[in-house]
Amino acid sequence: MDHYVVFGNPIGHSKSPLIHSLFAEQTGQALDYRTALAPLDDFAAFARAFFVTGRGANVTVPFKEQAFALADRLTERARRAGAVNTLARQADGTLLGDNTDGAGLVRDLTVNAGLSLRGTRILVLGAGGAVRGALEPLLAEGPAVVTIANRTLEKAEQLVQEFADLGPLSASGFDWLEEPVEVIINATSASLSGERPPIAASLIQPGVTFCYDMMYAKEPTTFCRWAAEQGALQAMDGLGMLVEQAAEAFELWRGVRPDSAPVLAELRRQLAAG
Ligand code: ATR
Repeated sequence: MDHYVVFGNPIGHSKSPLIHSLFAEQTGQALDYRTALAPLDDFAAFARAFFVTGRGANVTVPFKEQAFALADRLTERARRAGAVNTLARQADGTLLGDNTDGAGLVRDLTVNAGLSLRGTRILVLGAGGAVRGALEPLLAEGPAVVTIANRTLEKAEQLVQEFADLGPLSASGFDWLEEPVEVIINATSASLSGERPPIAASLIQPGVTFCYDMMYAKEPTTFCRWAAEQGALQAMDGLGMLVEQAAEAFELWRGVRPDSAPVLAELRRQLAAG
């Protein structure tokens, strides 16, 4: 039996074991996937010990940067993200580090929501790790521009500098923006505290602007509720991104692409019931 884990701290409420066991069942892959509470002060030794026999791992808060440092080789998107959410032990024993978060977001937008991002104006709210992970895959879709708006402007400007070679980017404060855009992605952690970034309602063109919150909860997030009130084309939460980043990792490990739709439906059902 091949062993996989998700490293995190805390990790108790992770949905990854459920997602990956559903993928394994669906694709007929024999594997065991568990949570692993890694120590805050010694992630590298803990991860190395697992990989003596373990085949692969997902990595979540607060270890994505340490996993980046641990990997022997990185995919381009992980190198750009500066963070690793997926580790795979290679045949020669070395560790490949990947970042499937941004690809999961793009797949949720383009496949599950059916959006075409080519030529669109995308507004990304936030400039933390979640945005860093999303920029390479988002820019690869060929948008007209990606504007990064953040409470702390310097962090948005820093990302624009780092990713400018990949496509058209601009940095902004929240309250400078007025013109409507086609896509707004909330990648701040504001929803965790029931808040939303203070952007103008005029950014949402009723029936046209698609809004996405990387966070999810049993009830619609503050941002999604607000976007729906402004008449957004759709206000979608990040549960699909969670399932899609897992599907990308599963494919990297097993060489088989799982069907994410029934797994997303099951998670949605459990979230509503919980
Ligand atoms: P993550 O890895 O989830 O991106 P992070 O790196 O801590 O987490 O980044 C959190 C992001 O949410 C930042 O862009 C932060 O803004 P600052 O850079 O100004 O701190 C943003 N954020 C958090 N709470 C917010 C709030 N209440 N309103 C607006 N932005 C918020």
